[in-house]
Formats: sequence, structure tokens, C-alpha cells
Amino acid sequence: MVWFLLLHMAALLIWAAALLYIPIMVGASPETPPDIDKKPKPYDSVGRFLFTQVATPAALAAIITGTIVFLLNRTVDPWLIMKLTLVTALAMAHTMAGVIVLRAEQEGKRRYIRILSGILLVVLCLLMTAIVWFVLAKPSMEWLPMEWLP
Ligand code: HEM
Repeated sequence: MVWFLLLHMAALLIWAAALLYIPIMVGASPETPPDIDKKPKPYDSVGRFLFTQVATPAALAAIITGTIVFLLNRTVDPWLIMKLTLVTALAMAHTMAGVIVLRAEQEGKRRYIRILSGILLVVLCLLMTAIVWFVLAKPSMEWLPMEWLP
């Protein structure tokens, strides 16, 4: 089990790093990139590579290894349910990172890209902090109605 937990933590660290870097990279790049930065195929950006070849595979690896740990551990505590609810929100924020990469690639679609990147970065930081807090602090959460659990 410990090996799956280690794989889980390695995958989530790569996922988190790639996901945080995308809005920073898109938000910090010039709204009208200099000619030297213009690519023959606009959809061939570094942001797209990070999203498709790093963040998304790492997300899948983190989810698969986390699920294996969950099945081996048979943990159904309230904190894990809260954690997985936040992980679902993180997966939605992940898709938003894809949206800003697409907008950054399209010439006329870069308006507000800095604001969107900034908002996404704040949401990602809050979600990741909350997820790690729940999994490490494991709060009892007596207020959560749990009678429906087996
Ligand atoms: C569907 C996705 C996921 C599932 C099913 C899952 C499940 C689990 C389970 C069952 C554990 C063992 C907890 C224990 O009993 O101590 C664990 C550990 C952990 N998870 Fe996840 N997880 C998922 C995604 C994530 C994500 C996205 C993050 C962070 C952004 C994360 C952060 C952690 C951390 C830091 C630990 C280690 C806690 C420790 O040191 O004991 N997990 N995960």
C-alpha cells in the first residue's frame, strides 16, 4: 500500500506543479507575443504541451493511485469524502487551465487572459491547500450527516 501512496504523492506533486505553472506562464506572457515567439502552428504552444503531456497524465495517475489506496485502505471517513469533493473541484479547475491555454493560442481571444489566469491561480492555490489540509489533518467533521454510509 505504501508504494501506491508514494506513487500517489509523486503524481499529485507533478499535477499540482504543472497546473500552477500554466496560469503563471499564460498570465505572464505578452498579450501580443513578439514575432519571434509566433509559431508556424499556433496550436503548438508550450502551454498545450504542459497541459496535454504533463498535467493531464499526472492527474490521471494521481486519481488512479489515490483510488487504489482508497480501495486497499477501505477508508470512508468524512474527511476523505470532503477531500474527494474538493478534488472534483480541482478537476474542474484543471479543465479551466485547458481553456486558458486554448484562448492564449488564438490571436483574437487573449482579452482578459491575465485576469482569468490570476483568478485560476488563486482558485488552484486555495483548492490544493484545502485538499492537503483535509488529508493530513483528517478532521472528525461530526456535523456531516454520515448515517447513509455503510
Ligand atoms: C480521486 C482522486 C484521489 C483519491 C481517490 C485520493 C485518495 C487518497 C487516499 C485514500 C489517501 C490515503 C489517506 C490516508 O489514509 O492517510 C490519500 C493520501 C494523500 N492524498 Fe489523495 N486522493 C486523490 C487525489 C488527491 C489530490 C488531488 C491531492 C492533492 C492535491 C491528494 C493529496 C494527498 C496527500 C498529500 C496524501 C498523503 C497523506 C499522508 O501523508 O498521509 N490526493 N489520497
